[in-house]
Amino acid sequence: MTEKRALFIIFGGSGDLAQRKLYPALYGLYYQGRLAKHFAVIGTARRPWTDDHYHDVIKQSLVGAPGSAHQKAEFADHFYYQSHDVTDAAHYVTLRDLAAKLDQQYALDGNRVFYMAMAPRFFATIAEHVKSEKLLSDKGFNRLIVEKPFGRDFASAKQLNDDISQAFTENQIYRIDHYLGKEMVQDIMPLRFANPLFEHVWSKDFIDNIQITLAEDIGVEERAGYYETAGALRDMVQNHIFQIIAMLTMEKPVKYDAPSIHAAKRAVLADIKPYTPAQVHANFVRGQYVGGDNVGLSYREEDNIASDSTVETYVAGRVDIANDRWQGVPIYLRTGKKLAEKQSRIDIVFKPTENNILPTAGDTSVGSDVLTLIIEPETGMHLTLNGKAIGVSDAVSPFTLDHALDQDELAKAPEAYQRLMLNILEGNKLTFTHWQELAASWHFIDAIRTVWDNDGADGLAFYNSGTMGPREADELLARDNRQWVWQGPAAD
Ligand code: BG6
Repeated sequence: MTEKRALFIIFGGSGDLAQRKLYPALYGLYYQGRLAKHFAVIGTARRPWTDDHYHDVIKQSLVGAPGSAHQKAEFADHFYYQSHDVTDAAHYVTLRDLAAKLDQQYALDGNRVFYMAMAPRFFATIAEHVKSEKLLSDKGFNRLIVEKPFGRDFASAKQLNDDISQAFTENQIYRIDHYLGKEMVQDIMPLRFANPLFEHVWSKDFIDNIQITLAEDIGVEERAGYYETAGALRDMVQNHIFQIIAMLTMEKPVKYDAPSIHAAKRAVLADIKPYTPAQVHANFVRGQYVGGDNVGLSYREEDNIASDSTVETYVAGRVDIANDRWQGVPIYLRTGKKLAEKQSRIDIVFKPTENNILPTAGDTSVGSDVLTLIIEPETGMHLTLNGKAIGVSDAVSPFTLDHALDQDELAKAPEAYQRLMLNILEGNKLTFTHWQELAASWHFIDAIRTVWDNDGADGLAFYNSGTMGPREADELLARDNRQWVWQGPAAD
C-alpha cells in the first residue's frame, strides 16, 4: 500500500462535519497505512484554539476507533490549528506561510486538498482568496472539496460554480454526495454491467417500474436552521436520489472511468421529462410529520422551527425518462424524516409474465420478479422470484434469494467518507458529482419548488411520526395500479 502525501486545509475545522466525519475518515486512512508520515492537516475556523486543544478535539473524535491511544496521539500531532476569518485577506497569507512550512517539514510534494466544510455562503470568498493570496501550489495537485448543499436552486448553484471555477477547474473540484460512497450504490454498476442476466433486461421491455426509498426514522435533530431553508426535496431528492436515478438508468459508459461515467449520467439526467405545474401536482406529494404520544413532537413544535412552517419533511414522486430505454417506466421515489424505520433501498420491479399457464393460489396472478438493493441499514440484495409451493400444490408462489454482504468484510470496509477521502487523494472522481449533473437535477427540482412555494400550505399532507408517510404517496402508485414494494417494517 503506497502512502499518500498531502496537506489538507480544512475550512470549518472546528465544526460538526469535521469532527464527526472528516477526522475519523482521515484516521481510518492513517490506521490502514494509506496516510503515514507525509501528511499534515490545517484546521481553520474563527474561534481561537491552541494546537493542544485542537489535538484533544481530534482525539475525542476518534473515541471508539481502533488503535492505541499512542497511535491516535501520533496521528493528532499532524494537525495544526489556525484561527481564521475567511473574509480577511491577511489571514490567507498566514495560512500560505504555514502551508509552505508544513509542505517542507512533512515532504508533501506540494499536494493540497482544500476542504470546504462550512456554510456554503463562504465558499466563494474562500476560493477567491485561495487564488488571490496564492495558496494554490504550483508543484503537486490542488483539489477543492465542496460539501453539500451545492446551491439552493439552479441560479445559486450556478453562481457558486462560477465562483469556485475562478480558482479551480472542473477537474480539480470534488463535489461530495456521500451516497456515492456507499457500498451498495457502488454495487449498481457491477450489478448492471457485469451480469448479462441483468444487463439484457435493464430496459422498458422487462422493467415495469423502479422504486427508490430513502426513509429515515430520525427528525431534523440540531439542523433546524438549515432544514427550514431546505426541506426534503433539496436535502435528499436533488442530490442523493437523483444520483441514484442516474446510476440506475444511465447507458453503459464507454469506459469505467470518471469522464465516461459522468457523460453517461449527464445524458440520462437530461432525458428526465420536465413537469408543468399541473404535472407537479399530479406527480409529486409533499408531507410534514406530526407528533403524538410516544412519537415526539410535531415538526412545527421542534426547536427553531416556525410554528406555521410549510417546509416538507417528506417527498414522494414519479419521475419519467423520455428516452428509448426507459420510455413509460415510472421511477417512484420517496424520502422522509420520522418514518417508521431507517431504510435506504431500491426496488426494481420486473414486468409480470405474459400468458401465464401455471396455477396460482386462489385467483391471484403470478407476482412480479423484484430485485431489491438494500443500501442500509443491512447491506445486500434480494431477488424475489416465483417457484412451486412446497408439497402437493402446484401453485406458483414467490420466494426470495438473499445475498447479505459479509458482515465481517463490511466491518472492515471503509466508511463512506473514508472512501471518498481516499478517492480524493487518488484523484479518482468517479464517486463525485459533475457540475452538469447537478445543473440538470436543479432544473427539475426548481420546477417543483416553484409550484410548492406558490402553494404555501395548500397541498401539504400531514403524516404521523413513526408511519410510512402520507397516504397520498400510496395513492400516487395506486393511480397507476401499482404499490410500494416496501410497505414498512410490519409488513416486510
Ligand atoms: C444528508 C441529509 O445528506 O443525508 C440528512 O442532509 C440526512 O438530512 C442524511 O439525514 C442521510 O444520510 P444517511 O447516510 O444517514 O442515509
